[in-house]
Amino acid sequence: MLKTARSARSVRPLGRRNLATVQETPVRRYGGLRDQDRIFTNAYLRHDHGVKGALSRGDWHRTKDILLKGDSWIIQTIKDSGLRGRGGAGFPSGLKWSFMNKSGWEKDPRPRYLVVNADEGEPGTCKDREILRGDPHKLVEGCLVAGRAMNATAAYIYIRGEFFQEASHLQQAITEAYKAGFIGKNACGSGYAFDVYVHRGAGAYICGEETALIESLEGKQGKPRLKPPFPADVGLFGCPTTVANVETVAVAPTICRRGSSWFAGFGRERNQGTKLYCISGHVNNPCVIEEEMSIPLKELIEKHAGGVRGGWDNLLGIIPGGCSVPVLPRPKCEEVLMDFDSLKDAQSGLGTGAVIVMDKSTDIVAAIARFSQFYKHESCGQCTPCREGTTWMMNMMNRFVEGRGHQREIDMLLELTKQVEGRTICALGDAAAWPIQGLMRHFRPEVEKRIADFRAREGGVLFGGRLAREVDPTLAIPDNLGGHLPEVSAPGTQATP
Ligand SMILES: Cc1cc2nc3c(=O)[nH]c(=O)nc-3n(C[C@H](O)[C@H](O)[C@H](O)COP(=O)(O)O)c2cc1C
Ligand code: SF4
Repeated sequence: MLKTARSARSVRPLGRRNLATVQETPVRRYGGLRDQDRIFTNAYLRHDHGVKGALSRGDWHRTKDILLKGDSWIIQTIKDSGLRGRGGAGFPSGLKWSFMNKSGWEKDPRPRYLVVNADEGEPGTCKDREILRGDPHKLVEGCLVAGRAMNATAAYIYIRGEFFQEASHLQQAITEAYKAGFIGKNACGSGYAFDVYVHRGAGAYICGEETALIESLEGKQGKPRLKPPFPADVGLFGCPTTVANVETVAVAPTICRRGSSWFAGFGRERNQGTKLYCISGHVNNPCVIEEEMSIPLKELIEKHAGGVRGGWDNLLGIIPGGCSVPVLPRPKCEEVLMDFDSLKDAQSGLGTGAVIVMDKSTDIVAAIARFSQFYKHESCGQCTPCREGTTWMMNMMNRFVEGRGHQREIDMLLELTKQVEGRTICALGDAAAWPIQGLMRHFRPEVEKRIADFRAREGGVLFGGRLAREVDPTLAIPDNLGGHLPEVSAPGTQATP
């Protein structure tokens, strides 16, 4: 028996993750979520977002019973449901929340906090705002349920400053919940005391990173902290804290009410549940839609977003999870499923579920260069690889848009992204590197063509972008500018002395 098990294991290629992969045949066709299985039933704000509307949609139904089942029951339910964080990283939520309840936590006199990340800064992402606007009570109830699971004293909802209507709907929901006795000293009559506060940010992307968010909540500059210690040990105001995304928290009450197996019945193994996808760009009907996890990307776009502008054949590529994840070319878009593992296998990521569609009219080099500008602008500047690297990446990408570069600089840029990736305090460095890696992986010939065309038009280019013909021929050019390379010199131009 043992021998069989071992030989079966040895068939698996070394280093392969023990997760679902695109190679594994899906057990059924995913997608086509039925209306009765939708969690966010007022995402389009067609109904009352206030407490009356929320009650009519089933929010706050027997919440007391959920609370009375206790922390271990809620955490086990979330674990069994297979919920993975919807903020981008996809870490299993039940496990993450359980870090708050380490043995002996009861003896710790410190208050404990749930912090809800409503910063939603990732370009292309616009799902949390629909929850905040249309279903704010789902989030407030989610705070109470997730807070109970972590034995938290209070929840702080850190909301992006620009979200004015969202913040006012949320504040209205909190006020209504206090008035109705759903939260406060004796939340839902359960004997559990729980407060909820809203804190408005000032619109810096980096404040979405969980430890920068905590710093910002404390009134300091939003600069990520070095970990460890992790927030579950030392978080907000030095107390045990868990930061979770709006969508993650807002689905918790429905999971507890309808059961973990109901939620786990959607999507592939380890990628379960329903998900809000935001589809933008060159589609006929940009939208935010709740769908089953693991729905094929092509089906998601054709069914809900009215298809690609000009038809599927007019598609150039798709960024499937917000601007931090690598772009996928059309052939890949035809085969991937919208879940964590399928997109990881395709060398991209589910991220926040923000699908950015680009048709053939897109200047893909300019699009990725724009992201590089964004990351350069949003880097907090604490770590050298990110601060310097994002500036270099932006400058090189801006030159590549024009073609003002050198073929060898493509590899130099890729090397630079590798020097930034994984070498920074927070994941903004990775986020800046990945879109460029995706561009070169799938669209390198386009960059090479631009460089060749520019050279044919303008003559040789030195490393750094100066035209060889503009250099004073009487001056010596340092070797590291590439002036000595024959491919740099324009015909009839003497680049080097
Ligand atoms: C630069 C940066 C920006 C981020 N912005 C957000 C954000 O706007 N909203 C969010 O929920 N998570 C954001 N995250 C992820 C958070 O750090 C954290 O992982 C997440 O809120 C955890 O929630 P979850 O477990 O529910 O996914 C960001 C991460 C980084 C590195
Ligand atoms: S990676 Fe960038 S944004 Fe993150 S801490 Fe370092 S400098 Fe700041």
